[in-house]
Amino acid sequence: MPCLIVNRSTYEEITMKFFIDSANLDEIQSARDLGVLDGVTTNPSLIAKIVGDPSKFTYQDFKDHIARICEIVDGPVSAEVTCLETEEMIVEGEDLAAIHENVVIKCPLTINGLKAIRHFSEQGIRTNATLVFSPNQALLAAKAGASYVSPFIGRLDDISTDGMALVEQIVTIYDNYGYMTEVIVASVRHPQHVVDSAMLGADIATIPYSIIRQLVNHPLTDLGLKKFMEDAAVMKK
Ligand code: E4P
Repeated sequence: MPCLIVNRSTYEEITMKFFIDSANLDEIQSARDLGVLDGVTTNPSLIAKIVGDPSKFTYQDFKDHIARICEIVDGPVSAEVTCLETEEMIVEGEDLAAIHENVVIKCPLTINGLKAIRHFSEQGIRTNATLVFSPNQALLAAKAGASYVSPFIGRLDDISTDGMALVEQIVTIYDNYGYMTEVIVASVRHPQHVVDSAMLGADIATIPYSIIRQLVNHPLTDLGLKKFMEDAAVMKK
């Protein structure tokens, strides 16, 4: 009897997904309007950018903001816990998960975060293991039942380490064992990171809005279009 080998591709629709890495509603709306957006990732630093007066921004405001994002995008929306102890992460994560069925709880890849991921996995709450910088961290995330893992490739590049090599290692390890955890290439700094993610078969790239815009542009497209428009002008309307 042949052994059935399964991997993420066996179950998932084989498609490269684009998430926007932003908490800015205008950016999220604009990216959604492009028609290629599959989800959203936020983190406390991205939330801090959209806060007007921090002294007036409450936890309820944070939850309301996540709810507004969920109204714009019909796909996974990662909201990060803001505490360090497992029990606190569980309380906050369950509260955030109740906002909308698309909310994914982002937990740091720490001992306590790992325990929280295991708990959420058993409760059927989707998680995104964040701040991942090594293949062993990614392996632990998958074993704990994380739905997503987020290797921060740009921050590795920043310290002269090959961030994309980490993505390659994670994809290989997950495929070796058929882990269903999806790989979100995070901390994307430029369009080449998106190309490399696709070449390596990463499931998702989460991309800042400015870089999503850059993916569209090419100077030869602009030049070619200008000439086509000039030549088309000879035709009578
Ligand atoms: C996404 O999940 C991460 O929080 C984000 O990509 C981190 O990006 P940065 O390294 O540019 O802050």
